[in-house]
Amino acid sequence: MAASIPDPTAAIRAFRGEILDFTGDPATLGDRAHRHHPDGILVVRDGRVAALGPASEVLPSLPADAVMTDYRGKLILPGFVDTHVHYAQTDIIASYGAQLLDWLDRYTFPAESRFADPEHAREVAEFFVDELLRNGTTTAMVFATTHATSVDAIFEAAEARSMRLIAGKVLMDRNVPEQVRDTADSGYEDSARLIARWHNRHRLAYAVTPRFAPTSTERQLELCGRLLDLNPGVFLQSHVAENLSEVAWVAALFPWSRSYLDVYDRYRLLRERAVFAHCIHLDHEDRQRMAATGAAMSFCPTSNLFLGSGLFDAQAARDHGVRVGIGTDVGGGTSLSMLRTLDEAYKVCQLAGNRLSPWRAFYLATLGGAASLYLDDRIGNFDPGKEADFVVLDPAATPLMARRVARTETLAEKLFALMILGDDRAVHATHVLGEARYRQTAA
Ligand code: GUN
Ligand code: ZN
Repeated sequence: MAASIPDPTAAIRAFRGEILDFTGDPATLGDRAHRHHPDGILVVRDGRVAALGPASEVLPSLPADAVMTDYRGKLILPGFVDTHVHYAQTDIIASYGAQLLDWLDRYTFPAESRFADPEHAREVAEFFVDELLRNGTTTAMVFATTHATSVDAIFEAAEARSMRLIAGKVLMDRNVPEQVRDTADSGYEDSARLIARWHNRHRLAYAVTPRFAPTSTERQLELCGRLLDLNPGVFLQSHVAENLSEVAWVAALFPWSRSYLDVYDRYRLLRERAVFAHCIHLDHEDRQRMAATGAAMSFCPTSNLFLGSGLFDAQAARDHGVRVGIGTDVGGGTSLSMLRTLDEAYKVCQLAGNRLSPWRAFYLATLGGAASLYLDDRIGNFDPGKEADFVVLDPAATPLMARRVARTETLAEKLFALMILGDDRAVHATHVLGEARYRQTAA
């Protein structure tokens, strides 16, 4: 049933095409988790979803002056949610021959040092958010660098495009070069100022961002907990248990800890709105703690393969009831495309003997990612009232995709072909609050 449209004077836009979204997790709800309209209409008013339904039901209730965009032949999905990515690593994507700790020293810290220059930060931030949109990503949780101005740059770029974005200043007060090092006190003060400036401004939110346990003193971790206590609703983002040398280093630096995750637990950083990237080398107790505290995991398959870190256990996360989203983790990750990332996620699950269904994959990239960030009341699907962020996918974007998709019989097969073969070429358009912020130009 199409919802009624209360204010006929407001600008109404309607988007017609094949429409798919999720109302829950297909792993638990099965076929009841998704809504599919082969010929559907999404109605948007003031940037929010006003109605969703089959064209035959929605068309008669549309006001005569509604502006219709015809996306028939394309697939409209909620915008992708990238739960872990580093904008300052855009220029070091595809850097050769190192695993995590070497990679940080050789490529990452030198690249991040350049963000002391606000002009450099601004240029990279603009490029990065445009790349997100070109890939159909409308919400991202982003690491900036140690430099407070790098946070201003990414928020300004997102705000200029009305995007929903979470970001924070990286906190690192030990074991890194001076150019990217702060102190426990300066990191705290910078973070507090940035929270006051950016948190909950338009669609932006702040994340307290200790890079990972080895680069923060215990005092800095303690102050992270204080920032979170003083600022309810602020997020936390960090890395955990990605690489075995890293895990051993944490055990040496924090000899009292039961596990790597336990370090964050000790400083009360496991909580709702806390997102930990990787979560590969965890045990049963760690996963129980994540589930019990409401913290989320960001599964970053392209990064985990590229840096040779290991295989994320999606089944164990599910069995423990932990919130999970998908992260591209560029520049350890090798693509900003969530489609490429779902492809690699499928393969990582294959190596563990698990199957990532296309339903669950697209759920994780949309509503599941939103839920992992506690944003599923605002984004992630097309419930009336939600923010109208969506991606328009072309399942026949390349000759090979067209050929393969022509031979599919079910929506599941088509989705699977999209996630295995698709990339930025399959993104026909990206809309933020109903506005087209990216349109593919004809080749
Ligand atoms: N662990 C600490 N910092 C990083 C980073 O920048 N990327 C990845 N993949 N892991 C990290
Ligand atoms: Zn990362």
